[in-house]
Amino acid sequence: MSQTITFQVQPGGSLRGEIRVPGDKSMSHRSIMLGSLAEGVTHVTGFLNAEDAISTLEAFRAMGVEIEGPVNGEVTIHGVGKHGLKAPEKPLYLGNSGTSMRLLSGLLAGQPFDCVLTGDKSLESRPMKRVTVPLAQMGAEIVTQENGTAPLHIKGKAGKLQGIHYDMPIASAQVKSCLLLAGMYAEGETSVTEPAPTRDHTERMLNGFGYPVTREGSTARITNIGKLTAARIDVPSDISSAAFFLVGASIAPDSDVTLRHVGINPTRTGIIDILRLMGANIEVLNEREVGGEPVADLRVRSAQLKGINIPEHLVPLAIDEFPVLFVAAACADGQTVLTGAEELRVKESDRIQVMADGLQILGVDAQPTKDGMVIKGGGYIGSGEVESHGDHRIAMSFSIAGLRSSGPITINDCANVNTSFPEFRDLATKLGLALTSF
Ligand code: S3P
Repeated sequence: MSQTITFQVQPGGSLRGEIRVPGDKSMSHRSIMLGSLAEGVTHVTGFLNAEDAISTLEAFRAMGVEIEGPVNGEVTIHGVGKHGLKAPEKPLYLGNSGTSMRLLSGLLAGQPFDCVLTGDKSLESRPMKRVTVPLAQMGAEIVTQENGTAPLHIKGKAGKLQGIHYDMPIASAQVKSCLLLAGMYAEGETSVTEPAPTRDHTERMLNGFGYPVTREGSTARITNIGKLTAARIDVPSDISSAAFFLVGASIAPDSDVTLRHVGINPTRTGIIDILRLMGANIEVLNEREVGGEPVADLRVRSAQLKGINIPEHLVPLAIDEFPVLFVAAACADGQTVLTGAEELRVKESDRIQVMADGLQILGVDAQPTKDGMVIKGGGYIGSGEVESHGDHRIAMSFSIAGLRSSGPITINDCANVNTSFPEFRDLATKLGLALTSF
């Protein structure tokens, strides 16, 4: 069980320097899943050594896959092939990781064994019907708690799943990926249409392992015919971790930060688009492609931000970045309005309510709405004690707020920063944030 960690940030300062933030979380999960199902030995570099990605790694070890590492971001996976997983001896505990649980539920629905997926309090309160309902249409048998939450009891239905077409009611990469992974074990074709573009790492990585997935407009298609061949995977830095410094260097005077080797897949760059609309000074340098994913160095310098109405089409492309974008909005001149983001209410915490509560404690005019927030920026950020509710991205966002606060900010319940970005405090202080933890 995690210990209690409190962050305290002293006010002011600038961010200056050059860093590489840790590997992309979404790609790290998928590298373990697909590397395990591949034939041959997969080498991963840049792997995120943080609790969420380790939950996936341990789950596959428990299903008989030999995995070495991570050591300095390197992982070696001795793939067992598409039909080589073994029944785990006990329930698979997935900690705080929604991606592990939702993707695994699809992957495990068509195996020749039963298993149980569990998680921490936050994960066991998150909605799982979004995956269990379409999986049931494919013939899966998954028993949830009465309200559709985990633990999930999955009955292995090897050879019994049927491909379906699914029109997703929400723009969710986890639901899309879950169904594509189930589709690898289903008779006929499985196709998923998304209402708006969501991250496409599953499709790209499946293709990288030689497994056919086709894409036509907003629909992705897969069948059970194909195999995965081991590959080399270079995981770029996570733009969702870089986001804290994109905002921090924008709002803190005299800042100049370069973030190296960041993944800039167009399904993930909503943060750059939104900050630029607000007037941020972000340069995208040395664009290159690494292992089927676009990568660049990002240079960000201080800028006076202005409030905007955030275009709704950018919401799924910046879905994990809103906590820190709310901090940017608090520092911007004028009003920022976010709509169409009700999904934020079912993340690791209710990110609309939790951010509004914390910002109000700090004296910011932040009004939560059903599907977003209205923030009147340009005033000042005060000092105070806020609750992260065990949500890693809330904890890091309020740390960044210290760059423009009038006094210290204490942030409670920060241990879960280790789920995605264990080096946050060290890298942030290296750049100039006066952050301590106890
Ligand atoms: C993820 C998809 C997103 C995102 C999550 C990671 C993924 O979730 O919020 O952090 O790796 O597929 P949704 O699919 O619920 O939007």
